[in-house]
Amino acid sequence: MAVPTLDLSDSKSFAQGFPHEFFTWLRAHQPLYWHAPTAITPDGEGFWVFSRYADVDSVIMDPAAYSSDKGGERVAGGTTIKDEVSAGKVMNQTDDPLHRRLRAIVNEGFTVKAISALEGELRTRTRRLLKGIKAGEHFDFAQRVAREIPTQAICIVLGVPEEDRLMLTDWVDRGIEAPSDAVIAEEYVRKIRRYAQGLIERKRADPADDIFSTIVHARFEADGSTLSDHELRSFFGLLFPAGAETTTRSISGGMLALIERPAAWRQLRAEPALLKTAVEEIVRWTTPSCYKRRTATRDIQHSGKLIREGDKVTFWEMSANRDERVFERPFDFDIARSPNKHLGFGAGVHFCLGSALARLELKVVFEELLKRDLDFEVDGTPLWMPNNRLVGLKSLPLRAK
Ligand code: HEM
Repeated sequence: MAVPTLDLSDSKSFAQGFPHEFFTWLRAHQPLYWHAPTAITPDGEGFWVFSRYADVDSVIMDPAAYSSDKGGERVAGGTTIKDEVSAGKVMNQTDDPLHRRLRAIVNEGFTVKAISALEGELRTRTRRLLKGIKAGEHFDFAQRVAREIPTQAICIVLGVPEEDRLMLTDWVDRGIEAPSDAVIAEEYVRKIRRYAQGLIERKRADPADDIFSTIVHARFEADGSTLSDHELRSFFGLLFPAGAETTTRSISGGMLALIERPAAWRQLRAEPALLKTAVEEIVRWTTPSCYKRRTATRDIQHSGKLIREGDKVTFWEMSANRDERVFERPFDFDIARSPNKHLGFGAGVHFCLGSALARLELKVVFEELLKRDLDFEVDGTPLWMPNNRLVGLKSLPLRAK
């Protein structure tokens, strides 16, 4: 059977959102698919595409066979196939034993208690933000609401003073928008690195009541070591894309899904207890961090195919989260879905460090939206980020009514 072609290394293939049709075909006919090199694949290599839930899970849960430590660089808007220069250093691109050490230290900061303590401040900020939206007003939900809360949350976690937040998030945005090999991206990376170094020095000398201060001072139990300045700067830089970009896209994608289903919106308003399952469904539905790249550390026989040592393997959580073998009616957005064992936050050793914070942000934003005496309608054309690394809306024009 002829394989329908779609260049997954081309961010244009994602300009109308995630290409679900192609992945539904792959799951049915070519669950382990070899994606040939394309004009855009930066290093001229092909890569494996894993699309079924069970196969995706088998890669995530076997970090010894599928290594994270070469990363997968994002170039020119989205491809993450090329090896990264930062690979082997930033936590999400390391393997054990280094990953175990980094993760153990940052876990000291990301405790349930520390995350729950953020609820009050996030709620106050959300209320203030939503209060500014009046009936009849036209606004971009993605920019005004969905982006603001996660960015503030990361700044609170990192203990970035209020007066620096606009400047810093502006640098982060410009750095993310620029192609990663461009001089301009380098310039912002340098600015952010310098800023992070100053903050680390302040937190070292004068720890404050924030998660980053806890991490700066935390010691690895086995040898009493702390994170080095370089490790802390890398962690600082990782949290903006890993934490803010993803949650932003879940909030706007969840909002669009609810507006398109007025019965679900009304049901949530009548039964706020449903928000718990609704939040999980929003993460499954939007899966903003839609795929990852690993590298095979040895020859592996998998489902009748030979994956060779050094082969690049991509696995697609978004596709796994729509797998008909695991989810009933996977293309229905069901706020009461249970069970919902989605892979939106990954699994195994690299399981999302910020999942509790992301869940909290989604809960607070939707609780506060539902409490307001307003309904919303789409008022314009929602626009998708043409990006294959983080899928989601860059613009969601709404009217409050
Ligand atoms: C809806 C929001 C979010 C989604 C969908 C998401 C998704 C993910 C996924 C799929 C991974 C696994 C990466 C892998 O297997 O290589 C991951 C890891 C990670 N996430 Fe999240 N994330 C979200 C929010 C956050 C937030 C709010 C933070 C920080 C405050 C965060 C920080 C991280 C970090 C540091 C890692 C790397 C963990 C490691 O390598 O051990 N994420 N995330």
